[in-house]
Amino acid sequence: MSLSLSADQPAAPADAADGVWLECIACGETFAPFADVRYTCDECDGLLEVRYDDLPTFEDFADAEDPDQGVWRYADALPLPSGVSIQEGATPLYEVPSLEADLGLEALRIKHEGMNPTGSFKDRGMTVGVAAARKLGVDRLACASTGNTSAALAAYGSRGGMETLVLLPAGKVAAGKVAQASLHGARILEVDGNFDACLDIVQELAGQGEAYLLNSLNPFRLEGQKTIGLEILEGFLADYDTVPDRIVLPVGNAGNTSALYKAFRELVQAGALDTDDVPKLVGVQAEGAAPMVEAIENGADEVRRWDDVETRATAIRIGNPVNAPKALPGIRETGGTAISVTDEEITEAQRDLAGEGIGVEPASAASVAGLRKLRNEGIVTEDERVACLTTGHLLKDPDAAAAAGREPEPVPAETAGVLDHL
Ligand code: F0G
Repeated sequence: MSLSLSADQPAAPADAADGVWLECIACGETFAPFADVRYTCDECDGLLEVRYDDLPTFEDFADAEDPDQGVWRYADALPLPSGVSIQEGATPLYEVPSLEADLGLEALRIKHEGMNPTGSFKDRGMTVGVAAARKLGVDRLACASTGNTSAALAAYGSRGGMETLVLLPAGKVAAGKVAQASLHGARILEVDGNFDACLDIVQELAGQGEAYLLNSLNPFRLEGQKTIGLEILEGFLADYDTVPDRIVLPVGNAGNTSALYKAFRELVQAGALDTDDVPKLVGVQAEGAAPMVEAIENGADEVRRWDDVETRATAIRIGNPVNAPKALPGIRETGGTAISVTDEEITEAQRDLAGEGIGVEPASAASVAGLRKLRNEGIVTEDERVACLTTGHLLKDPDAAAAAGREPEPVPAETAGVLDHL
């Protein structure tokens, strides 16, 4: 397995273009990055990764011209110099003093990806993925989605002047996300099946050349998502003079887990991060959709697909995490773990975050719920500095927010009656 923190910086193969190429993580076959449309290895069907012959350090990012430009401040770590951008990235790394004290941690910060243009981390991937699509000359983009990917694809696709097609599991996508995909002009196909069935179909459509696939199987999209990890590390270095001990994040297809691990590996290869300092990656899933947790607990090399999945956190209602071959080594090599939480624990964590003024959708709160569980079990210790990733905004799923919050109280239309009620 080539996905190791101790891997050497690779030499560019003949098919590299401007020092960038695609490489199969299973068999090592290499491909030119933008010559043809390709999502997996021609030889063995393994997952592809973008590789670079020159990897940047934190100094290179600090030298970037505009420090406020978000994802594209990290262009040296990306396969293209610029993208189809709506000012994604540069999200807040909130302090949460009450929650930090309650959990008993040296430091706790919340990286709130809900503050991206369409309200989720998907924008970081789309700004790169849609630019790659443009470079490849395709005109129709597609994804399967539990909602957020479809919202981001619709927005970035229309901004890039391309047609967008999204396949959604009927009745299982939160209202805010469908509304976004709809208004940004995607054709929405509601599939009578779960997310995994949608992804099977869209992969087949992409394989037949009907559309360009922008799920996290797309290696260019994950490059953009690396910047979450880069921003967290820079934020901790600025505030604590050290990187976090641990990063806790919700897991669906395990794209973010893979992207963060890749960001760390590249920093190690560039000599910018010591192997011993790499943050432990902790993946959190809902109990009703926890195939990654099962694989980590059983020490399995592969993830068993769960056909029946259910959780209130619809964003991570996924039974076949396609990036598992990239993410399992990431969790293991960093000394992390994976854990599942109940829907009730997720709602409780959503309330905890709301109490700090941070509004997140249920899947996002899974990170904090998982951290609390690991802290209670003593696996996370009081001397740790931890970052939790919250992946999507509260308004994505207004029904879940309303159900977790207080009931409105009817009052008469006059002050005396309101005072009486209070
Ligand atoms: N959190 C939110 C809010 C998500 O929307 C997703 C994935 C995840 C976490 C899981 O991230 O796949 O990188 O492990 N949503 C996809 C979608 C599946 O279609 O919007 P992952």
